[in-house]
Amino acid sequence: MIVADPENIHITASILAADFACLGDAVRAAETGGANSIHIDMMDGHYVPNITFGLDLIPALKKRTSLPLVPHLELENPDDLIDSLARLGSDMIVVQEDTCPDLGKTIAHIRSYGIGVGVGVNPDRPMEAVWPFLDRLDLVIVMSVNPGFGGQVFDSHALSKVEMTRRYLREWALDVRIGIDGGVNERTIGDVLRAGADYLVIGSAIFGQGDIVQALARLRGAIRECLRMTACT
Ligand code: DX5
Ligand code: ZN
Repeated sequence: MIVADPENIHITASILAADFACLGDAVRAAETGGANSIHIDMMDGHYVPNITFGLDLIPALKKRTSLPLVPHLELENPDDLIDSLARLGSDMIVVQEDTCPDLGKTIAHIRSYGIGVGVGVNPDRPMEAVWPFLDRLDLVIVMSVNPGFGGQVFDSHALSKVEMTRRYLREWALDVRIGIDGGVNERTIGDVLRAGADYLVIGSAIFGQGDIVQALARLRGAIRECLRMTACT
């Protein structure tokens, strides 16, 4: 089962793949192109072997776009950053479930700021890890690459995890978005939608293809095309 309305498919533009020297221009172009939010991978060099953005990027980007800003915490001890990230203007915070010793407490902490809450699940982790928390989430992200870098190849094992999650949500009548993060592009987008994802984290296929607005138009076209086809509805 998939969500058949193309307008209901959320595209969040992951700036990990953008030109770091021109992030303001990149988020502005993503907004012009119709992205629904900006995905900001924050990495610490410990949880993943890469270091990216710090807290101050949130207010800096807020001056350049009105799109919701969503930090994705691919780092250890995410609980230590929630107060600052929320106060600086994050619209949703996504944590990795395997970095939170008390996930329920982390979710409540984020929610106490009245902002959205998302949880990511790594390729080697079972979706069952988040089942007990789904009724308190806005978003669950199935990782289709190991976190750390953009431009990796989509791991198709993620598709069955998306399907399983979609079934679970339907069974329990829960209104939670299913995200997928890593390797989503015009070639993989059809499988992702058919599996039941409705929140697409996309980096390289937006920022690594030349014109950002045109790349987003092609992705929207691919979504509409897939959802028009009988097999997808
Ligand atoms: C990986 C990040 C992703 C990454 C996806 O650690 O969580 O958000 O930016 O990039 P692409 O779309 O290039 O696979
Ligand atoms: Zn991410």
